[in-house]
Amino acid sequence: MKKKEKRGLRNLIMIILALVIILGVCYIDSNRRLTVTEYDVYSDRLPEAFEGFRIVQLSDLHGAVFGEGNEKLLDKIRAAEPDIIAVTGDMFDENTDEGYAPELTARLCEIAPVYYVSGNHEWVINPRNTFKAMEAAGAKVMRNEYETLTVEGETAVLAGADDPNGPYDMKTKDELVGEIKAETDDYIIMLSHRNTDLDLWASLGVDLVLCGHAHGGFIRLPFVGGILRHREEWDHPTIEGVFEKDGTVMIVSRGIGSSGKMALRLFNNPEIVVAVLHAGEK
Ligand SMILES: [Fe+2]
Repeated sequence: MKKKEKRGLRNLIMIILALVIILGVCYIDSNRRLTVTEYDVYSDRLPEAFEGFRIVQLSDLHGAVFGEGNEKLLDKIRAAEPDIIAVTGDMFDENTDEGYAPELTARLCEIAPVYYVSGNHEWVINPRNTFKAMEAAGAKVMRNEYETLTVEGETAVLAGADDPNGPYDMKTKDELVGEIKAETDDYIIMLSHRNTDLDLWASLGVDLVLCGHAHGGFIRLPFVGGILRHREEWDHPTIEGVFEKDGTVMIVSRGIGSSGKMALRLFNNPEIVVAVLHAGEK
């Protein structure tokens, strides 16, 4: 091989090596460095007493751990000063240690009241005992039910829908919202794992929906966004961010962890969402 060719080959190897190292660093960062995204949500249907009400949303943890005892995650949540913590499914899955969800739930409950809805992955295993343990740890596991949030005597509704992977004969979303509407016209905050129901929630008159499921498209490229999607998401490009339809606001978290044994996030840092509610128009 000529001297010039040798140098060219060496340069090529160096470039490939540098790219591999850069990608490796990005990959580690994309799976380890927690970010916080804050959304301001305005509505003239929200009572004045809820001005500044802070909801921390955790989605799609999939058993993820950040620091000893998840302390890095808990620190970020504490710093966000939540009034409530909403966990929108896939906190654990078939690869997660049994004690993970109840232990983390207990720590979250020390910070603020915790409300939980199931994701698709919980139903791959039988989640009922884990739900019980999470309830014993202090969380409210919301299985197509709702309750009233009260601040200084004023009220809003917090509801939670089970993932459709749950029991075949469970209450539908229409039935759940119908029950709420029959009782009150209060502002409705809905926790629901999947990101594909904006049209339905808008038609039902739900005010705010917090969901996840899409993991932001797993691998996110500049100018393109998330490139991997679940089958049902091709018709619903609502894979991360905030969306609005007919007065319904839907926030889609990019999630925190990854399903499967391998962490599959690239250029897509784990995301804690903070929804800050405001009474009145923007
Ligand atoms: Fe997930």
